[in-house]
Amino acid sequence: MLKAGQTDTSSTAMVNPLFTCFGSANEGLPLNPRDAFYYETKPDSYGFTPNPYGFGYRDLGLGTFLRSGFGSGPSPNESWRQYAPTVDGQMQVTSLRDVALTPQCPTTEAPGPYFQKELFHNGYLKSLKRVVHFYNTRDKYAYPVTSGHCPAGTVEKVNCWPTPEVPNNIDMTSGNLGLTDEEENQIVAFLQTLSDGFTKPYLNRDTFTGSCMTGGSAATQGNESLIPTPSLPPCSSTICGVAPVPGPKPISESLSVQDTSMLANFTSIRIIRRPMIELARDNLTIVRWTTNTPGGSQMHYGIVHYGTDPHHLMETAKSPIRLNPNHSSAVFRVRLDNLKPETTYYYSVGSLEAAGKTDGVKSLISRFTTP
Ligand code: HEM
Repeated sequence: MLKAGQTDTSSTAMVNPLFTCFGSANEGLPLNPRDAFYYETKPDSYGFTPNPYGFGYRDLGLGTFLRSGFGSGPSPNESWRQYAPTVDGQMQVTSLRDVALTPQCPTTEAPGPYFQKELFHNGYLKSLKRVVHFYNTRDKYAYPVTSGHCPAGTVEKVNCWPTPEVPNNIDMTSGNLGLTDEEENQIVAFLQTLSDGFTKPYLNRDTFTGSCMTGGSAATQGNESLIPTPSLPPCSSTICGVAPVPGPKPISESLSVQDTSMLANFTSIRIIRRPMIELARDNLTIVRWTTNTPGGSQMHYGIVHYGTDPHHLMETAKSPIRLNPNHSSAVFRVRLDNLKPETTYYYSVGSLEAAGKTDGVKSLISRFTTP
């Protein structure tokens, strides 16, 4: 309480929103071969070798942290280690506050001399437009290649997305949104409003006053400076082999430790759009279905039990999605990797809360044949 004659000289707490869900997810970003880290394989003048594994390095993100793995400080709690396989590849959801605050040239993807915006953890994406296009088409244009090796007739980051750096735990909330080019632009315009000073710009601080390079365009998205990824050695055992390595675990044990936000509980969950095959390629199959929004944790898993014998669905695939509590329905999408070609599979779907509790939904058995 201020007394008479006293003045409050404290500052107001900074309460501007951060525009992040504070969670972590693996968005399935390809490895970026331009990342200098892959080449830092020799000791520097102090004898320090940043990355002795070269292209055998994979960024397991939260999984590495829980294992106290290569490049990470010690995990503060050893009992978290068991959860590492359920979070391999997950990166912290970046704050989108000020995500557009970079001097932009008309050719936003041109190489230098101004500061080139690099988005996502490894800088593979160079503009907001490309980020939104990635969320929109990652699965539609998925190819089993590394960066720099998209098939002839396709353009990388436009209608070819190389394979994810870490194939586990890929978030399936997005990946095939069906947005038009104009709708993508509208989301970019929205992202630009998340900037401090959007209504009252900083004095000249964000205005690029140099000369813009030519050479890149929004259509080619910086592909002028792409370099081919060398043929990748397997992930070094020092990184991917640190126990507990990814491996089959009973679903009920595969808890997610990161989501405590809960939605209101609905009493009956039902499938309102039956399971269908969204995509069937030689390397990737995606099963999609819709339910009314389940209650419980915001983080959910779609589960597909599948196999070649309809009486024994021996295999299980599960993919995380993040529910939107403002929507009355939830679209579940699950990835099935590397199925056998020209083979008929049977499958049934269901869903789980983050802590492994079932939503109590199970579909009838359907079937499909791979190409
Ligand atoms: C269409 C909807 C979405 C938009 C427009 C969007 C936008 C963005 C943008 C612009 C960034 C880059 C920030 C930066 O590098 O500075 C980002 C990063 C990220 N977003 Fe989203 N996001 C969307 C949906 C989601 C969803 C559904 C999830 C997960 C459930 C998610 C998880 C993440 C993660 C983990 C990162 C960091 C990725 C990394 O560093 O590799 N996003 N998002």
